[in-house]
Amino acid sequence: MKHLIDIHDLSTTEIDELIEVAKDIIANPAKYSEKCHGKKLATLFFEPSTRTRLSFEAAMYELGGNVLSVSSAGSSSAAKGESVADTAKTVSCYADIIAMRHPKEGAPLVASMNASIPVINAGDGGHNHPTQTLADLLTIHCEKGRLDNLTIGFCGDLKFGRTVHSLIAAMSRYKNIKFVLVSPVELKVPSYVKRDVIKKNNIEYIQTTDLEAVMPELDILYMTRVQKERFFNEEDYLRLKDSYILTPEKLKNAKSDLSILHPLPRVNEIAVAIDDDPRACYFKQVYYGKIMRMSLILKALEVM
Ligand code: CP
Repeated sequence: MKHLIDIHDLSTTEIDELIEVAKDIIANPAKYSEKCHGKKLATLFFEPSTRTRLSFEAAMYELGGNVLSVSSAGSSSAAKGESVADTAKTVSCYADIIAMRHPKEGAPLVASMNASIPVINAGDGGHNHPTQTLADLLTIHCEKGRLDNLTIGFCGDLKFGRTVHSLIAAMSRYKNIKFVLVSPVELKVPSYVKRDVIKKNNIEYIQTTDLEAVMPELDILYMTRVQKERFFNEEDYLRLKDSYILTPEKLKNAKSDLSILHPLPRVNEIAVAIDDDPRACYFKQVYYGKIMRMSLILKALEVM
């Protein structure tokens, strides 16, 4: 049985296959419309979500399957103290596959160790978000036509940003990648990500606090939100929340074929005025997220 807890659970060949199937779904949606007939996806979301939960559910419906949903911690027996392990054993009796989001890092891993059906991590605390990464990879592949020879800027909260950690891990597999890590000093990429992923794979990188200075180098700019929910101290959040706000002015020296990504939700870190700029890809990224989750469900259920 194939779980997806961390992007490392997938080989590069498997990621390439997921992208290939995703592109075929875009080209031939009717071919896939009944592939999951009779199958059920359980979305267990113990932390808020718009895109991830709804895109998983839309993906399953578009594959002809059905959905069971827990949309908040308070609406399940977790509120009465039920363990993640017991929840996973229970839901295994009702569904064919689980997508789980949880505020505790490692909760989807615990679920996978107790479920008798595939478990997909839909985001665990500040740790990992592998399906967002798959959406990001499909977006980059569709926009740039490649996943190698790219300079990728990550900007904002690189400390708690689980989407950043997973995408760094994924992009580190490809050739001639350079990372430009832009954050306040307090929100730098964790040392374990630098040591175990970036340095281990001999990836060229720079760290800076100055986005405009590095803008002309970037092929991809991956903006992130400073996440209020990850801070222990509101004072720190208020001090750091507006560190980077991308405006048309700040894009003046950017490449004409820059791709601007953001996992969303956005608060104010990308001005709405940028949404009409052809370089803004974050709503296309939302669409690709649904397609990639269709591809992933097919793979996890071994329906091809
Ligand atoms: N990108 C993302 O995970 O969005 P949601 O929190 O809305 O699911």
